[in-house]
Amino acid sequence: MRTITRSLPAFAAALALASLSASGLAAQAGADVQKAVDAAYAKYRTLKEGKNADYIPALAKVNPDLFGIAVVTADGKVYTAGDVKSEVSIQSISKVFTMAQVIQEQGADAIEKTIGVDATGARFNSIIAVEAVRTVVGSGAPEMNPLVNPGAISATGMVRGASADEVWKKIIGFHNDSAARNLDVLQDVYKSESDTNQRNQAIGALMLAYGYIKSNWQQAVDLYTRQCSIGVNARDLAVMASTLAFGGKNPVTNKQVMDAAKVPNVLAVMATAGLYDDSGKWLYHTGLPAKSGVGGGIIAVSPGKFGIAVVSPPLDDAGNSVRAQRAIADISNSLGGNPLAPPSR
Ligand code: DON
Repeated sequence: MRTITRSLPAFAAALALASLSASGLAAQAGADVQKAVDAAYAKYRTLKEGKNADYIPALAKVNPDLFGIAVVTADGKVYTAGDVKSEVSIQSISKVFTMAQVIQEQGADAIEKTIGVDATGARFNSIIAVEAVRTVVGSGAPEMNPLVNPGAISATGMVRGASADEVWKKIIGFHNDSAARNLDVLQDVYKSESDTNQRNQAIGALMLAYGYIKSNWQQAVDLYTRQCSIGVNARDLAVMASTLAFGGKNPVTNKQVMDAAKVPNVLAVMATAGLYDDSGKWLYHTGLPAKSGVGGGIIAVSPGKFGIAVVSPPLDDAGNSVRAQRAIADISNSLGGNPLAPPSR
């Protein structure tokens, strides 16, 4: 097992300082954005590295050639290349928006005190990481985060509601508001993952046993599985990313989805743990808070500048889309999207 790594408080501070100005990239010629998007699409269109996830059988059947890129700027304009209409399941990217919903509803402390905001240094569905918190770090202190399965299932369990239906309406509502359209669950993916999610059920039961979930772990696992099965295309994901890029205000609908002051907490966890045990490497090269999903999507956020997303199902060994990582890094670096870099004059 890798050693337990700590969070990046300095980075969170840098994010808090990052400008959330509404002008951002809108001022930059849209032509530059489109050029960067087109260049990345042309460069990686024929790249064949990686392999679809297959531990959820429905994911293995998705067309591996699907490749779409979208960037959304402050003025709500959407720049695209490739297939930005075909849907894949959102998978772990949903963890960001359910975490955001809990932070919006209950405050940033609720997540930090219940689950934690530290990287685990382990794979996203590691049970050893949960045990390590107890036996290595000590006494079950909150030393995980809501972007790995144990923390994500707990976060879903934290969404308040008198019934599963009420909780679900809040979860899907937050996703819809962030995406600027009503999203649907891909029923084939939901069934496929429900039939094969015994490991997540074990994690849910363990989180109840250790007190991270207060009751009804079965409901938390089921709603978590359902949120992971929401269908999204590259355009939807880029709009969702842009809602986080512009202080919680969706630039397409102008709806304030979450309080601007709470967005840096969401971005900090994305920066720390968004690409699992490759999060450090990703941050090193791009500086962007981001989140991947095993459906093949990645979202990334350049605060005050743009939201970006790529969908391409083949994944690398860490579980992150190969083409999405490369395309986002190229586009962001050519648009000056790294929030850790000094401002250009
Ligand atoms: O819990 C699971 O296994 C999936 N529903 C989500 C995993 C995922 O997307 C991890 N991603 N990189």
